Amino acid sequence: MRLTRWAAAAAAVALSVTLAACGSSAKTADQAPAAGSGSAAGALVGVTMPTRSSERWIADGDNIKKALEKLGYTVDLQYAENDIPTQVNQIENQITRGAKLLIIASIDGTAITTQLQSAKDNKIPVIAYDRLIRNSPNVDYYATFDNFKVGVQQAESLLVGLGIKKEDGSDGGKAGPFNIELFAGSPDDNNATFFFKGAMSVLQPLIDKGTLVVKSKQTDFNTVAILRWDPATAQKRMEDVLTSTYSSGARVDGVLSPYDGLSIGILSALKSNGYGTPAQPYPAVTGQDAEVASVKSIIAGEQFATIYKDTRQLADTAVKMADAVLKGGKPEVNNTSDYNNGVKVVPSYLLQPVVVYKDNYQKVLIDSGYYTAAQLQ
Ligand code: GAL
Repeated sequence: MRLTRWAAAAAAVALSVTLAACGSSAKTADQAPAAGSGSAAGALVGVTMPTRSSERWIADGDNIKKALEKLGYTVDLQYAENDIPTQVNQIENQITRGAKLLIIASIDGTAITTQLQSAKDNKIPVIAYDRLIRNSPNVDYYATFDNFKVGVQQAESLLVGLGIKKEDGSDGGKAGPFNIELFAGSPDDNNATFFFKGAMSVLQPLIDKGTLVVKSKQTDFNTVAILRWDPATAQKRMEDVLTSTYSSGARVDGVLSPYDGLSIGILSALKSNGYGTPAQPYPAVTGQDAEVASVKSIIAGEQFATIYKDTRQLADTAVKMADAVLKGGKPEVNNTSDYNNGVKVVPSYLLQPVVVYKDNYQKVLIDSGYYTAAQLQ
């Protein structure tokens, strides 16, 4: 079943790469924005990021700004601290100030339709960054990671943590049954659904077999989703689940967490309920973003794994897209099928995520120059 799915996915990627190679212009021509060809030099680019409360978005914003400025553009970079009206205002201001292109990592992927219409009316192309902007025809391109694969990798790392699988995918020897609990990201972030679907494509068959048991019975996306990816909300939910389901002595063996910020909250709840001792070690807790605090936690043997998404690559991809569009050309895309935003399929460039464990963080994060060894001490 999974093999078939992956074979299909691989074929789709191969096809889209082929399309890209022979000029996917045919695919995107009718969606091509009215770019300011000839007027690119020094043009203002508006960049809006969701929040500074997570270090990844700080790195994303800095990397985009630096790369655009290197190409001679002027950049207005804004953060909205997860407040939708603030982000709406920031986008409106950028349009008023004469931005020639917008790069947007949205807070709520459905909340900026009016602003995007105004961008369209002003012939300002829009690139969705990391998160798909939904319900609007006025999104020209999307730069992101393979979000379904992120979810698959999160689930696979959970199985490794439980001893069901080894890191190379081979049999880990353990058969369960194991108690697990599930968390998902913000329901207004399109990525959260992709991560959850990817993870459940791996976990559901094992739940059906009884190898994995979601003891709280909370498996529905809306029940397990954490609004705005808020660590405190995740901590609270984990505490509630521990009280309602595990107070009579049962043990949680694994927690699917879709983001490092949530993982930290989940681990805190576990700690205050007696986990994290030699007698009662932490369950295997997954994550995403390879944030410093979580990588340190992995090194310390607390969080089990995370998913590394190189924000340098993502920024670079978005900037290349922006530069091509501003110069009147067509950016390279490698996926023209998976990201339907409710109105249209947005031509996308998907990057590849990597699983980080205690035994490969050095190679993946330090040798690649993403972090220095000192940052992780
Ligand atoms: C998602 C993003 C993740 C994580 C999360 C919380 O949209 O893809 O990498 O950063 O938001 O910020």
